[in-house]
Formats: sequence, C-alpha cells, structure tokens
Amino acid sequence: MAETTERAVLPKGFRSAEQGWPALHRIPHPPHRLPVLGDVIGSSRSTPVQDSVRLARRLGPIFRRNAFGREFVFTWGARLVADLADESRFAKHVGLGVANLRPVAGDGLFTAYNHEPNWQLAHDVLAPGFSREAMAAYHPMMLSVAARLTEHWDRAAADGRWVDVPGDMTKLTLETIARTGFGHDFGSFERARPHPFVTAMVGTLSHAQRLNNVPPPLAPLLLRRANRRNTADIARLEHIVDEVVRRRRADGHAEGDLLDRMLETSHPRTGERLSPENVRRQVITFLVAGHETTSGALSFALHYLSLHPGVADRARDEVDRVWGESPEPAYEQVARLRYVRRVLDESLRLWPTAPAYSREATEDTVLADEHPMRRGAWTLVLTPMLHRDPEVWGADTERFDPDRFDPRAVRSRPPHTYKPFGTGARACIGRQFALHEATLVLGLLLRRYDLHADPGYRLRVTERLTFMPRGLRLRPDRRRAPRPDAPGRPVGDGAEPVGEERRTGG
Ligand code: HEM
Repeated sequence: MAETTERAVLPKGFRSAEQGWPALHRIPHPPHRLPVLGDVIGSSRSTPVQDSVRLARRLGPIFRRNAFGREFVFTWGARLVADLADESRFAKHVGLGVANLRPVAGDGLFTAYNHEPNWQLAHDVLAPGFSREAMAAYHPMMLSVAARLTEHWDRAAADGRWVDVPGDMTKLTLETIARTGFGHDFGSFERARPHPFVTAMVGTLSHAQRLNNVPPPLAPLLLRRANRRNTADIARLEHIVDEVVRRRRADGHAEGDLLDRMLETSHPRTGERLSPENVRRQVITFLVAGHETTSGALSFALHYLSLHPGVADRARDEVDRVWGESPEPAYEQVARLRYVRRVLDESLRLWPTAPAYSREATEDTVLADEHPMRRGAWTLVLTPMLHRDPEVWGADTERFDPDRFDPRAVRSRPPHTYKPFGTGARACIGRQFALHEATLVLGLLLRRYDLHADPGYRLRVTERLTFMPRGLRLRPDRRRAPRPDAPGRPVGDGAEPVGEERRTGG
C-alpha cells in the first residue's frame, strides 16, 4: 500500500518529453521543425488526431511532435503498446485533452489523477452500477428510448426523408444514459435543436481540444472570447446537473440507479460517501462519457452497414434468427447477436471514438527494452494506428471486415492489440453498458429498416477529443423481408411495412 501511494504521487502539470525520455533523439519527428513553433507546418488544428495518424504512417511505431516548445511522444506499434499495458510499470496519465477537462470534470472518475482519493472511492461505489444485474435492469429503459428513435425514423421512412445519423444517435445515447443513470428525461426527440446540455458539452470538448493548439503563455490572450464561452458552457452544464440532483433529492425515493449510488451509497469498507461537489463532477462525467462515444460508435457502424449490404444482410439474418418472433428482445438475446457485435467491434477498430489514451511510467523503466523512460514520463497511445498495425491486422487494414473479430481470428492475435476502451485499472467503466446499448440498437434498426447510403457521401470525421462522422445521413426504409422460418411474413412488430413498395417504385 505504502509503495502504491509513493508511486502514485507524481508531479502534476505538463511534463515535456525532454524531461522524461533520456534517449529522445532516437525517436523520429517530422521534418521542417521550426524554432518556437515546432512541427506546425502542414498540421491541422481541427483534426489533430487524424493529423497524427498521417504522420504515424511516415514516422513509424513511435514518434514525437512538438507544438510551441512542448514535446509529445506518440506510440502505436503493437509491441510497444502491449508493454505500456503492464500495470506494474505504467498507469493512466491525465494529460493534454483530458487534463483540459479538469475545470469541468475535476476529480470525477475520468479526469481524476491516480493519486486522488476520490478515484478509488467513486470507482468502488459506482462499479456495481455496471454489474450484470444492473445492466439487466437498464435493458427495458434502453428499449423504451430506442422506441422513440424508431418512431422518429418510421416517420422519416414514411415520408422518404433522410435522417441525420450522428444527431439522432446523440439524442438516443443521451436519453439512454440520462434515463438509466439518473432517472432523467431531456426530451431530446421532442426538440428540433440539440438540448442545451449537448451544445454546452460540444463547446467544452472542442475547447479542451483547442487549448492544445495555442502556446500556453498566450492562451489567456488568444482565447479570451473562447474562454468566456467555455466558462458559460461549464456554468450551463453545472446548472443542468444541479437541477437533476435537486429533483432527485426532492423526490426522495430511491431508483437504485447511478445517481442513487452517488448520493446514498457509502464505500463498502471505509463507509465514506461522495461529497456534493464530487457528485456534481461525477454526474457531468457520466452524462458526457456515457453518450458521446457510444453515439459515434453507432454512427460509424451504421455508415459501414449502409455501404456493405452483404454484411447488413448477414447481421439481419442473425437478428431474425436469434430474436425470432418476439417484438422486443430479452436482455440475454442481445449478447447472442455475435455477428452484430463484430460489426461494432470492426467499426471501433477503424474509428475508435475515444481515439487516444495516455500512459505514464510509474518507475524508471525501459519501454519494450528499447526506449528508456524516467518515472513520470508519458506517451500518448494512438489507437486508430494501433488498430492498423500491419504486423497484427495484415496489409489491408482499411478494409471493413467484421470477420476479423470471429473468435478464432481474435485468439490468433497477441493480447493488447485492440484497445477502444483503454487499458488497465482506468479502462472504461461503461464498456458493457455501451456494448449492450449499441448492439441492441443496431439489432433493432437492422430488423426494422433497410439502410440506404447517400451516394454522394464521403466519410469526413469531426474531432472534439472524440471522433464523429460529419454530415452522415441515411434513408431508412421500413422492411418487408421473409424470415427463413416464416416465408413471406413481415419482420418486426407486425406493423404494416411500407418500405418495399416505395423501394421498388424508385
Ligand atoms: C463506445 C463507447 C465508449 C468508448 C469507445 C469509451 C472509451 C473509453 C476509454 C478509451 C477510456 C479510458 C480513457 C483513458 O485512459 O484516459 C474510458 C474511460 C471511461 N469511460 Fe468510457 N467509453 C465508452 C462508453 C462509456 C459509457 C457508456 C460510460 C458510462 C456509462 C463511460 C464512462 C467512462 C468513465 C467514467 C471512464 C473513466 C474510468 C476511470 O478512469 O476509472 N464510457 N472510456
């Protein structure tokens, strides 16, 4: 215990790589480095991760970039990333974009420094909120939110309209985490514009990303207006969550959800409770972390399904087979959609919607027997490139192929080569929640609609610490497809399908 505490207390604030990597000169960097500015030539401020991916292809499995005198090391080679997963020598590093979220999320679970006592306290109090029993209790609520999405898509299908995929997936996932975690309804599907929570969240995430692109001493001056807007966004988020908490306290009755755990549950060993300030941080954390990345994952998966009718057919056959006649799947029937899950896994391979995580050395060590690191030195793991390492994934890494995730293929790969949910003690606490929700929703949508792509659409990806397809729209068509066991019968809830007629009619 003493050892853990001693190891955990590392200096806060930005640590430039020169301080922590004694053999930094052996790590390549882009050509044409400029004094003071660093590697800014050709770099894009709005897509820093995709920029780094382009550089990674040229510079190899470990490389560095310099922005305004701050030097960062990026890692993506599978051997290096596997070594970084060793929890006895490395831990999460709260740096760059994540550290920029501290003003809004403080010592909430995602942004807490490893040594902050509230991390362990909140982790132990909240982890049972993601147990199998808890997930089974969320399932009916997930179904009822999904029904609001399908009502909306049914209307679009009846009118032959396009749907805004990222917009609708964001409504769905926000409502799902709000309802299951906090018993709250934001009414997203009844609104023409995004809920103010979403607007403020997008503002703070984009601001946190933008802060990395300006020289720190000049940030207060250059970002004066942006900072003011960010302060207003944070105030908006706090106001909204304070209201959610106030209502729960006023209602006084327990729902057994995450908010109850935050307010009522004490630590099983120490008896400690979360403070009101920490509850506020956790509610913001869960509302943001619990929807933005799942929304992106669903959007990318729908994009690929619309482009690969063969994959969509196979997935749809599975849904028909596993769910059979039941109008709504039971909890256990979701995990049995193995192929749909592979579609999701493969979409997250190509576009891991939380595209990077940082690791720091907790002792002086040598990364993969090659790169000495001092205690406290850190590196950013570039997940989209880890997921494209040709030594692991083969030469055609851009090809969308869900069979990469069939059990035999998975077993044939070394461990730690697929990391959309991060790694170790600080990996995603909501992983099962996200996978259940996304598999369920893909199953429901595949069963109900044929998904038509916009022939003019080319995938463009927006970054705001997360990845999201920009401007993606699809045309859903209510489906009439025979089930293998009941030829000619409409699939789904028995409602009159309208798609086939319109489709054949052009
Ligand atoms: C596809 C969806 C999701 C993806 C790709 C994702 C990805 C990640 C990643 C990569 C991390 C680690 C970050 C780091 O090491 O700095 C993380 C942590 C976290 N995620 Fe997720 N996440 C998803 C969904 C969710 C959901 C649904 C929730 C909540 C309901 C959630 C809550 C959290 C929290 C609280 C942490 C911090 C955990 C800790 O440090 O103890 N995430 N997530």
